[in-house]
Amino acid sequence: MAKIISVINNKGGTGKTTTVLNLGAALKKLKYKVLLIDLDSQGNLTHALHITDAKHHIGELLLNKCSLQESIVEAEGMSLIPSTNNLLDFEYLINNEPGRELLLREVLSNTNTYDYILMDCPPSMGTLSINSLAAANFYIVPMQAENFAFIGLDRILQTAQKVKTRMNAELELAGILFVKYQNRTKFGQAVITSIAENSMLKNKLFNSYIRQDIALMEAPAFGQSIFEYAAKSRGAFDYMNFAKEFVKNYGKKN
Ligand SMILES: Nc1ncnc2c1ncn2[C@@H]1O[C@H](COP(=O)(O)OP(=O)(O)OP(=O)(O)O)[C@@H](O)[C@H]1O
Ligand SMILES: [Mg+2]
Repeated sequence: MAKIISVINNKGGTGKTTTVLNLGAALKKLKYKVLLIDLDSQGNLTHALHITDAKHHIGELLLNKCSLQESIVEAEGMSLIPSTNNLLDFEYLINNEPGRELLLREVLSNTNTYDYILMDCPPSMGTLSINSLAAANFYIVPMQAENFAFIGLDRILQTAQKVKTRMNAELELAGILFVKYQNRTKFGQAVITSIAENSMLKNKLFNSYIRQDIALMEAPAFGQSIFEYAAKSRGAFDYMNFAKEFVKNYGKKN
């Protein structure tokens, strides 16, 4: 069975899309079969993989207007279910469906093709983000070690707890991933120390973190993951380390 992972944070610009793209590419390099799902109407993941001519998208899939197979396109050696810029119109229809928060779980329930399925959530806790939590085995919260980064974290944890209780008993926080990390700032270190001292969260910080790296910002403009764009960059090194830590702790054993 695939390990299904939601990359989620209702705050915008916290590295969700960058993490889905490059964790996925790292897992592919480690020879796993990877499916990425773009749940964001901004379509940043879809654009980062330069998919412009997809016949179907996640909105149609969730409304049973196409099959899982029909919704998948191939990009960078991975599979992708793309988004569309009119996903918000589909979200309106999805909100009127019975069991609207379980649509993705239902769609993914029969897939045995992939080792890892990574879902890129929009920066909100709307129906699509809840769908991803209801379908997931694990969730990862990427965030910057900066002031106020933790405001809102409680809300994510509480929402996930409700999803776990009501819809998906398996759901587990895999961890918080620090991104855009600058080791030299005392402040970044102080934020990490303070979270490490929080009794609820101290065992939920990944040891690996992702340093600030301009190459991570540039790669999507070329339709590439960091491994194609700049194989020797800090970003490539950090995302590979993170992928190995993830697989070791939560991954498929093989
Ligand atoms: N480690 C990093 N170093 C430098 N830039 C980064 C890093 N991680 C992400 N970025 C950049 O920060 C911006 C926000 O990242 P990203 O798009 O991954 O966040 P997001 O959480 O998906 O945003 P949204 O909430 O809008 O979907 C992007 O321009 C991205 O290229
Ligand atoms: Mg994004």
